[in-house]
Amino acid sequence: MRESMGNLRRTHMCGNLRMENVGEEVVLMGWVQRERNLGSLIFVDLRDTTGICQIVFDNTVSEDVFAKAEKVRSEYVLAVRGRVRERESKNKDLPTGDIEVLAEELRILNEAETPPIYIKDDDNVVEAMRLKYRYLDLRKPSMQNRLKIRHKTAKLIRDFLDENNFYEIETPMLTKPTPEGARDYLVPSRVNPGKFYALPQSPQLMKQLLMVSGMDRYYQIVRCFRDEDLRANRQPEFTQVDIEMSFVDVDDVISINEKLLYRIFKEIKGVEIDLPIQRMTYKEAMERFGVDKPDLRFGFELVNISDIVSNSQFKVFKNAIENNGSVRGINIKGYGDRFSRKDISSLEEYVKTFGAKGLAWIKITDEGVNSPIAKFLSEDEKNLILDRMDGEKGDLLLIVADKDSIVFDSLGNLRNEIARRLGILDDNEFKLVWITEFPLFEYDEEEGRYVAKHHPFTHPMEEDIDLLETEPYKVRAKAYDIVINGDEIGGGSIRISDSSLQSRMFKALGFTEEEAWNKFGFLLEAFKYGTPPHGGIAYGFDRLIMLLTNSTNIRDVIAFPKTQSATCLLTGAPSDVSDEQLKEVHVKRDLE
Ligand code: AMO
Ligand code: AMP
Repeated sequence: MRESMGNLRRTHMCGNLRMENVGEEVVLMGWVQRERNLGSLIFVDLRDTTGICQIVFDNTVSEDVFAKAEKVRSEYVLAVRGRVRERESKNKDLPTGDIEVLAEELRILNEAETPPIYIKDDDNVVEAMRLKYRYLDLRKPSMQNRLKIRHKTAKLIRDFLDENNFYEIETPMLTKPTPEGARDYLVPSRVNPGKFYALPQSPQLMKQLLMVSGMDRYYQIVRCFRDEDLRANRQPEFTQVDIEMSFVDVDDVISINEKLLYRIFKEIKGVEIDLPIQRMTYKEAMERFGVDKPDLRFGFELVNISDIVSNSQFKVFKNAIENNGSVRGINIKGYGDRFSRKDISSLEEYVKTFGAKGLAWIKITDEGVNSPIAKFLSEDEKNLILDRMDGEKGDLLLIVADKDSIVFDSLGNLRNEIARRLGILDDNEFKLVWITEFPLFEYDEEEGRYVAKHHPFTHPMEEDIDLLETEPYKVRAKAYDIVINGDEIGGGSIRISDSSLQSRMFKALGFTEEEAWNKFGFLLEAFKYGTPPHGGIAYGFDRLIMLLTNSTNIRDVIAFPKTQSATCLLTGAPSDVSDEQLKEVHVKRDLE
């Protein structure tokens, strides 16, 4: 049975009725969360986007209405007219738990087959099912709440930037490759045989052109596309809050963004973050935390013990240092007894995934020092290590010897892994930090040359410019990342606005002038006609919303996300296309 709404029009939302509505006649519309038939009474929990309201059908009120109510099942779509009354047995867990609606009229607007997944927050449905039936998954209050917070945050960001004289300007989706360093998604051109557009990895070049245009302050909440290996907090298409400003240096960009972050945390989380947000150089972050996105909610900082063990009998340590590496450790202070030998073995397996060859450990217990490497260390070395690492009873020291990149990577990640395993991370504590003075270049082992760590338009620090030709690896950039609880939430830089400096940069990157013009000629041409000093930042909006909604999965904050293998289980994208379609866009299949 299906009926129209007829003359019924919704007067209230399900989740909004309270004691003060008692006595009112209301019309509610929504989905059946559940129904219970007690013989002469039927209770229906009616759900809409605001919440749930209990509807009562009483066969002494109307037998016709009651008979219709008997047919109602989960997820049927109903319109109900009735009167609000106080409940006899109140439900304290429900905002509408003091009242119920005694139904006088019922229209079954639509029926529903039994849904393949439960519409319930604490379900255990495998994610593939949730993604396939996303429209049902999105009926859950928790999912709707995330989308609402996403909307509210976007609006707040727009309001803030508008108040500060930024203009939201759209930039093309069908464009030239942009310089963010991932693989492009390509779109073949039908009218230009053999030519392709690239979907933007970011609007980087366009926003710089808008500064040349004199728009002064730009922003855009914009979709970006990157064909890269997907990890936990990455999506092939994701959203940036992209910002660019003219006549600014690092402090100007940081300062206005701190005000924006303050507003977001205040209004969305009710948390007042401390301003100014602390800053840490890249070098300090690596030395202390092993990663350039440190989680500052806990300690376990890295300690360098290379000098103590440089002549050790323990060859593993000595060799690492002789090969220009280092020996560093972290102290899992006070948690030693939480790690059995088996646990430590699993930590060792964990660091091996980052290239470490092993994990040396020292446990300090009531009985003294317990360690598989104790026999290789002299009494002096042992004491100095304990001293340097502040090793006391109850502690567990974990040590890796290798080249620096491996030591940092394994201990930096181990630190986070251990905090996770110990369950000491508080989702409602927010530690923000600007990481500054990134290296301008990083060495690409595969390509055997230096590549830009951010992109080739990043301005070097003034005091390092003269090292561009001689010691490029020492040049630091006017680049900054905002890191929150160990996640890179955004990053940006001051850009090069001087063409001779840009040429030197391209040279250092091993591009010939011609190659540079081929790739970015339109930007270099624009820079000839009066370019203001400029810089900006882009936030990973999805990651920001993950933080604000305490989500651990980026897919949970996106209405229609893709899987780890970049597919959409709902629509089946990407899918086959016909030979005719391919011919039209001048593309031949070659699946070898
Ligand atoms: P960057 O490449 O650092 O900078 O990107 C900015 C932020 O976007 C987020 N992010 C992602 N989020 C989800 N899925 C992905 N695949 C993904 N990739 C990046 C991160 C990151 O900090 N044009 C420059 C910004 C600038 O210099 O102004 C840029 O795109 O949170
Ligand atoms: P072995 O003598 O090889 O059995 O190693 C003794 C201890 O040193 C074991 O606990 C290993 O995990 C650890 N170990 C081996 N290589 C390294 C390394 N590169 N860094 C830190 N510890 C290591």
